[in-house]
Amino acid sequence: MSILIKNGRILTADSDFHGDLFIKGETIHSVGTQLDVQADQTIDASGMVVFPGGIDPHVHLDMPFMGTFSSDNYETGTLAALHGGTTMVIDFVLQTQGKSLYHALESWQGRSNGNCYGDYSFHMAVTDFNENTKKEISQMVEKEGITSFKTFMAYKGALMIDDGQMVDLMQEVKRQGGMVTVHATNGDMIDKLIAKHRAEGKLSPLYHWLSQPEITEAEASGRFADMAFYTGVPAYIVHLTCEGALNAVREATYRNQKVFVETCIQYLLLDASLYEQDPDGAKWVMSPPLRQKKDQEALWAGLNQGLIQIVATDHCPFKWEQKMMGRTDFSKIPNGHPAIENRMELLWSEGVETGKISANKYVEVTSTNPAKIFGMYPKKGSLAPGSDADLVIFDPNERHTLSAATHHMTVDYSAYEGWQVTGKCKTVLLRGKVAIDDGEVKIGKGYGEFVKRGKVGKVV
Ligand code: URP
Ligand code: ZN
Ligand code: ZN
Repeated sequence: MSILIKNGRILTADSDFHGDLFIKGETIHSVGTQLDVQADQTIDASGMVVFPGGIDPHVHLDMPFMGTFSSDNYETGTLAALHGGTTMVIDFVLQTQGKSLYHALESWQGRSNGNCYGDYSFHMAVTDFNENTKKEISQMVEKEGITSFKTFMAYKGALMIDDGQMVDLMQEVKRQGGMVTVHATNGDMIDKLIAKHRAEGKLSPLYHWLSQPEITEAEASGRFADMAFYTGVPAYIVHLTCEGALNAVREATYRNQKVFVETCIQYLLLDASLYEQDPDGAKWVMSPPLRQKKDQEALWAGLNQGLIQIVATDHCPFKWEQKMMGRTDFSKIPNGHPAIENRMELLWSEGVETGKISANKYVEVTSTNPAKIFGMYPKKGSLAPGSDADLVIFDPNERHTLSAATHHMTVDYSAYEGWQVTGKCKTVLLRGKVAIDDGEVKIGKGYGEFVKRGKVGKVV
């Protein structure tokens, strides 16, 4: 099967021109102006932008967490992602403390295998690093193609590891050619503040925010950067939200250290005033919490300064009845925010349309950098000949309204209800097949493949 996409604005991380793109089988065959080829199908992309499919390297599908499961499974989550222009996601396998990495991997494979519409991969979250776990790191890298290892400096008793384990893990991951990623907030400080607020009867979602002040993230980010510097491991901070944490990363650059940074769409667009204004505050219970306007400005600047390389979602949806598990106590509200379907359109509308970031930067932070940093480039994140034909045909002028009534995520509210966005993902291709066309699904469940990744940490 071959497809010719004609007369589009071909946009990549480093180019932007009008032309054609020819796809043969699952990969891109050629890109140029006025390609003279015969194709089985021709798509007229006049007036459209054609860019690489989004890669969201931070999602939680069908994840057991805080006494429930995140409400999108691999089927619904990857399909919603495709509707929103994201052709690949990287999800997190969570080791159960006391059990092996393989025990967790098998359980995640059981839920994901054969169920995905879009392509996917896994990070391995190491929650209990010991002599047995250590032996599994090389197997993850060499055999499973899982080359990034997630750590938590918070969620004590369930996911958090201490600094001794962190350093030991970093040394082993470095030896095996992997990368250590982190949820960088000071878990002990946060637990103290949660306990204090609960003891004082301060139980509303506002106190979720007040239990995780900026300093808890800035401190942990700096400590993580120091441990990464000491061990020399490639390092990556997930869902960075605030100026203080970004300054810790900036500080690390003064000793010529590169710490990769991801922020998420919600931290660029939403702020902590919602905890005070919105009667449905549970919607905004995520960790780290939303921050202040000055932090949003620091994050936009961080993207343009190259200190932040990726905009992800940390998609971790819970239905309202699940959120209401914490009706009378914020510490029991499952933490998470739904956005897997919204990231690409929101970032175009709020970032490119407003002039905050360039169109090339948009491709870089939504697709090319995730592919490079996580060991998949140029198979993914590129429109070059030989790359997987994962791409979005995007109408930059179509205005539409985001709503729970029309989205495809399995969650009965939208964090962006009523937001007007400019730009719509019209047609989405995954490995040479039209997956979504004008809202219609053209592929079947199970088309999505697990992507084994290579050694990681390329400087971008
Ligand atoms: O609130 C969040 N972020 N939930 C998912 C787990 C995590 O910390 O990423
Ligand atoms: Zn986290
Ligand atoms: Zn997360």
